[in-house]
Amino acid sequence: MKILVAETISEKGIEVLINAGASVDVNTKLSREQLLGIIGDYDAIIVRSVTKVNEEFYQKATKLKVVGRAGNGVDNIDMEGATKRGIIVVNTPESNVVSAAEHTIGLLLASCRNIPQAHARLQERVWDRSNLKGVELLNKTVGIVGLGRIGSLVATRLKAFGMNVIAYDPYISDARFKKFGVEKREKLEDLIKESDFITVHTPKTEETMGMIGKDQFKIAKKGVRVVNCARGGIIDEQALVEALKEKIVASAGIDVLVDEPNPTSPLLDLSNVVVTPHLGADTVEAQDNVGVTVAQEVISALKGEMVPNA
Ligand code: NAD
Ligand code: MLT
Repeated sequence: MKILVAETISEKGIEVLINAGASVDVNTKLSREQLLGIIGDYDAIIVRSVTKVNEEFYQKATKLKVVGRAGNGVDNIDMEGATKRGIIVVNTPESNVVSAAEHTIGLLLASCRNIPQAHARLQERVWDRSNLKGVELLNKTVGIVGLGRIGSLVATRLKAFGMNVIAYDPYISDARFKKFGVEKREKLEDLIKESDFITVHTPKTEETMGMIGKDQFKIAKKGVRVVNCARGGIIDEQALVEALKEKIVASAGIDVLVDEPNPTSPLLDLSNVVVTPHLGADTVEAQDNVGVTVAQEVISALKGEMVPNA
């Protein structure tokens, strides 16, 4: 079993692979050309969100049997291409959801209280509290778009702040809204009009890309605050930039960008944006969970055993 680990996973995950008798190459600094040059030697690859496992990749990956996605979203994997070739794709959908939910809350608080901006000022030895006034969460309405694993964890946590939590998710039962004590909105439009804060937790699909954009900012409350800890572009970046400049959106907390991992987003130039480089799942706990789970799944798949998240 020859396995290429092409993006960083935890040491515990690597140990699982080695203990199973696999020959493991950890090479997280390969250029695209280098990756395509060597992938033909491997039975399995483990990636996170940066590596594009697409048609070009599959054409070179002639021995590949398994793709391990060390994380949740599989939007960087061409699933149809894998299925067509009998390649098994495994992921770890549960392993990092608490970390992603906690990071969402962190971004929400950091952006609505200007914490990084204040920190930067003080590190410059400037004691200046002007233009840093924030807002409270208590009694405000937060609109959650996508009440799945992470959206529901965010809902539970924000209720503890005394927020009124509403959500839009046309694909789940009313019982799920009830279970988390969240008010359902049938239309995205209604959620947008009512929310003081909006946070998106959908997968990246054709339907969700840009689902919050120019038209939605036109009907949003002036001074709404937004968070995207899901996938770059679910909140349209250019529309968000305009809305932030016009102060329709007062602040944004952003973990994910369209052009990852390149720091090219126009959001990076704005002072009312708090941004992190896709750190939602970067905790000790989540990475241990993800690393071990994906390693076990890849080994099971290579051995032809049952795999829970295939
Ligand atoms: P999930 O599949 O459990 O939940 C997604 C929810 O979105 C589902 O309930 C689904 O019904 C809903 N949905 C789908 N299309 C929708 C639409 N058009 N409108 C409204 N709702 C819609 O996914 P999850 O595990 O909660 O992950 C949510 C997002 O977070 C994904 O994009 C995932 O890739 C991302 N994620 C990011 C990080 C990070 O590091 N920033 C970490 C983990 C996951
Ligand atoms: C995920 O989908 O799990 C996250 O985006 C985190 C990651 O890719 O590491």
